[in-house]
Amino acid sequence: MVGSLASNIILALVVVLMTLLRQNKLFQEWFLSHLEKLFSKKSKLTQKVNVLSPSLKLVGYKTSVTAHQSNLCKINHGIPTLPDLTQNLIRLHEYRARGEGYNSLLFRRARQLDGTAGDQLQELGYFTKLMKNNESIRENAGVIDKIIEFTLMKLMHSNEHNKEIMEEIEKICAEHGYKIEDGHLTQLNSDSVFPIVLSRGSQNAVHEALAHLCRDFSSYYSKERDPLQKFIINRIRHHVVRPGAMKEKILIVTPGAGVGGLPHALASTFPNIQVDSVELSALMYVCNLFALEYKHDVKIRPFVQQYSGQTVLNNQLRSLWADLSKFNSCDNLDPLWGDFTRYSPDAKDYDKIIICSAYFIDTAENVFEYLASIEALKEYCKELHWINVGPLKYGTKPLVQFTGDELGRLRKIRGWKDLVETYEVDSSKGLNGYLTDYESMYQGYYGLLKFHSVFERSN
Ligand SMILES: C[S@@+](CC[C@H](N)C(=O)[O-])C[C@H]1O[C@@H](n2cnc3c(N)ncnc32)[C@H](O)[C@@H]1O
Repeated sequence: MVGSLASNIILALVVVLMTLLRQNKLFQEWFLSHLEKLFSKKSKLTQKVNVLSPSLKLVGYKTSVTAHQSNLCKINHGIPTLPDLTQNLIRLHEYRARGEGYNSLLFRRARQLDGTAGDQLQELGYFTKLMKNNESIRENAGVIDKIIEFTLMKLMHSNEHNKEIMEEIEKICAEHGYKIEDGHLTQLNSDSVFPIVLSRGSQNAVHEALAHLCRDFSSYYSKERDPLQKFIINRIRHHVVRPGAMKEKILIVTPGAGVGGLPHALASTFPNIQVDSVELSALMYVCNLFALEYKHDVKIRPFVQQYSGQTVLNNQLRSLWADLSKFNSCDNLDPLWGDFTRYSPDAKDYDKIIICSAYFIDTAENVFEYLASIEALKEYCKELHWINVGPLKYGTKPLVQFTGDELGRLRKIRGWKDLVETYEVDSSKGLNGYLTDYESMYQGYYGLLKFHSVFERSN
């Protein structure tokens, strides 16, 4: 009797637990992360390892990061950890399987149509289209393999003198089918058994990062980049850098750099000015490092998974070249990985710091945090400039969503003086695309808010 009461209570508890687990996302995440922690001793150690950028040097294994080490990376606190990197490498690794998995779902859906519709699908070559799409996904996966391999190699080279950390890196390499032999990365035999590791993130961010390599480095997308870069470069050249003032110590900072096209353009246009770019997303960031250091062009099919709005299959499957061979890394460019609000420059004696933001302000959950982080840079320089270009298309659960006018008045309240503020919203003069497929039936364009402001509040 007592036994059956106890088992009923346990059963009821399990049912409540399962119901909670199924209904509550927060609870699911909490439960899963505890399970992971319980079963993975390795993650306990690696969770404490920080990844410095741009070197990908790992620090803090069984010790804490020293002030000197954290200074090296110009990101204070919240330095990304090794699991932040490895989880995202796994997300990249899954691109092919998940892409083909989606196509097989489309295949199964279409197979539900039988009889005449089924015959007509065959006659149209609909199933052949899905097979061809898989081939294109496999080609993109080939580029992704190169990005993973490049990142593993960089990790290996930057940490080869640390024996304990190299053991961790060897395990990470094995997860992707590589082993380290005599300081080189070699592929394991295809019959080797890889550990099964699954990422939790969605694949959208992987598609986005791959497409951004085209946006930033393909001639096809110069029409999207040029208007942004021209505005920023023109403002710096004619309104910030004094002609002949070679001795001025100037720093350019680009928050939310994506895969790094804008900071690269600024660093190569102004070789005497230090450029620090800061990007939060690990996927974007590894693509940024790859773009700057790989030195070979890569062919990407950025629209392959966009089934809507296509006129013909060849457009959907078409490839663009990311001309990476043209984009060498510049000595005056430091691509940093982390949260811009945790960034600080390496010195306090700059004459001028120029924040250059493109398509960034509207990513803020709390735009006041962005403003405060930008304004805090006044401590590091005599003159603080902010040049911005982009829409106000808010995402990421923003606490406030300002109009351009409100944002302008807020700048004034906080001590900024606009040298220029314009809107480009006239479609007849051309709006700005963002990863737009110009051959498709759906083409999104943005109006732009452009301003150049100087911070005049004295601390
Ligand atoms: C809309 S994208 C624009 C990327 C690039 N500026 C461009 O024009 O292609 C915004 C970028 O900001 C990054 N981002 C968002 N919040 C950030 C933060 N707090 N610190 C650094 N980067 C951030 C995102 O990961 C994303 O790559």
